[in-house]
Amino acid sequence: MSDYESFLYDSHAFAETHPDRLGTLGRLFGMETAPPDGCRVLELGCGLAGNLVPWGALYPKSEFVGVDLSRRQIEVGQADVDALGLTNVRLFASDIMQITPELGPFDYIVCHGVFSWVPEAVRERILAICRVHLAPQGVAYISYNTHPGWRIRGMIRDILRRHVKPGDAKLKIHQGRELISFLTAHLPAGKSRAAAWMKEELDLIQRMSDAYLLYEHLVDENTPFWFTEFVERAGKVGLQYLGDADFSSMTAWPYGEQATAQLDALTNNLLETEQYLDYLGMRFFRRTLLCRQEVDLNRHFEGRCLDGCWLAPRFARVGPGEIRVRGDIPIDISDPLVDAVLDIILCYPAGIYLDRLLTLGAEQIEGETTPEQLAAVQTTLLELYAMDAVELGRHRRPWIPVVDTRPRTPSFARRYASMSGSVTTLKHRNVTVDLLDRAILLRLDGRHIDDIYTAIWRDLTHQRLEVSLKGAPVTGRDQVIALVDEKLERFAQVGLLMAPGTVDVGHLDLDEEEPDQSP
Ligand SMILES: C[S@@+](CC[C@H](N)C(=O)[O-])C[C@H]1O[C@@H](n2cnc3c(N)ncnc32)[C@H](O)[C@@H]1O
Repeated sequence: MSDYESFLYDSHAFAETHPDRLGTLGRLFGMETAPPDGCRVLELGCGLAGNLVPWGALYPKSEFVGVDLSRRQIEVGQADVDALGLTNVRLFASDIMQITPELGPFDYIVCHGVFSWVPEAVRERILAICRVHLAPQGVAYISYNTHPGWRIRGMIRDILRRHVKPGDAKLKIHQGRELISFLTAHLPAGKSRAAAWMKEELDLIQRMSDAYLLYEHLVDENTPFWFTEFVERAGKVGLQYLGDADFSSMTAWPYGEQATAQLDALTNNLLETEQYLDYLGMRFFRRTLLCRQEVDLNRHFEGRCLDGCWLAPRFARVGPGEIRVRGDIPIDISDPLVDAVLDIILCYPAGIYLDRLLTLGAEQIEGETTPEQLAAVQTTLLELYAMDAVELGRHRRPWIPVVDTRPRTPSFARRYASMSGSVTTLKHRNVTVDLLDRAILLRLDGRHIDDIYTAIWRDLTHQRLEVSLKGAPVTGRDQVIALVDEKLERFAQVGLLMAPGTVDVGHLDLDEEEPDQSP
């Protein structure tokens, strides 16, 4: 019996596996990819189906198929599918080795957190399935641990595995955490750089979930691959490297112009260049996109690749003509039109389509803007995308960053809130929620905001919920209103509030609330 039967993995949604993300990347490279609301997606090793359930609710015209060896995990995922009444998500408790061609072609195949962690025969099968099941313009996403970073991180795994004795999952986790606590308490971080590095890594692992510790560091199988080695293996079965799920990781920009020039001199081979970038970044994890060998890819990007895309900000404005990305990397913006366009992007956290963006940008600038100027802006925006300053997509993002009088959260977020302290947002990420968050999320079904205040107030007065503010219990209705408003603001920022007109076919019947008997 696999450990996953007795100790379930965490349920997660991964934004980088989203069909819109994969499809947008494919289109940048010249492919004719399918839209998220008209595609077939296969997920290998789907775990609890945390990726597929939200997509099923939001894209009823698409079909989502998940396969996982663990019967128990599939049962949990199926319970979510059933609770939401989704008819377009099919989950199978099956070995990847048993998948047969009848499943048909898929526009997207996702295999996250599986490839490094399964035996060699299963790895071979994963690549073969991608070859057989990818539609002609399909994109496969496979993540895996990679060198050189994992070579160092794997040292900690070796130490933990030497300490942990065979036994059940909980015991192994207990022993693992025990050793981590011992090491972090006594490593001479102030005296040795190696010890300081190790302590930092162990602190990170200590903050991760039990499931992560177990399945990354304590299980038997965990094989890292060099990037070029992985691509070569894929090539042997007729698949080619499309790109990385993080487009910005494919260039040397974070290391500066000199590094870029020197790297060009070291190698002019695309794959080797990325391999060298892995040395610079000490990369330990990769999310590689593949497509069929016969697809004719375009690797000469032009601004017009952005036609039809929306853009959302990933930068911070520091001052006029200057932004920062990834927290601390400064980028100077010399063109006033680009600077104006960036200010507009900042006003649209959920994204703005390029044509509207350019129209608004042109209105901000005195005098006529020529088509050449707008084309140049598009080119700069593409460069900014490669610098991780903006996010791109093609399909409208379904969340709004503001709270209206009838706030709605998607059906799957309400379902997850009813079950656990981690919910999936409309950005397709997980956020941690406390009891008050959960009580509010359950009520975000389109009812008026006053009724939400009342429901939470009722929870408090009926002692179904305890909430404190600065250490003192909340007792007044005004306090409840202020707290709920604060929570709703956070939901708006993290992407838990649905934009008007969003399709969500999930239905959730939660128990009727008790009638209000409070004075
Ligand atoms: C680390 S979990 C990742 C789950 C999910 N993809 C995620 O990233 O959250 C690995 C998953 O692969 C599944 N798995 C392992 N070997 C498998 C096989 N031969 N066939 C199908 N699923 C398998 C496990 O049951 C487990 O759910």
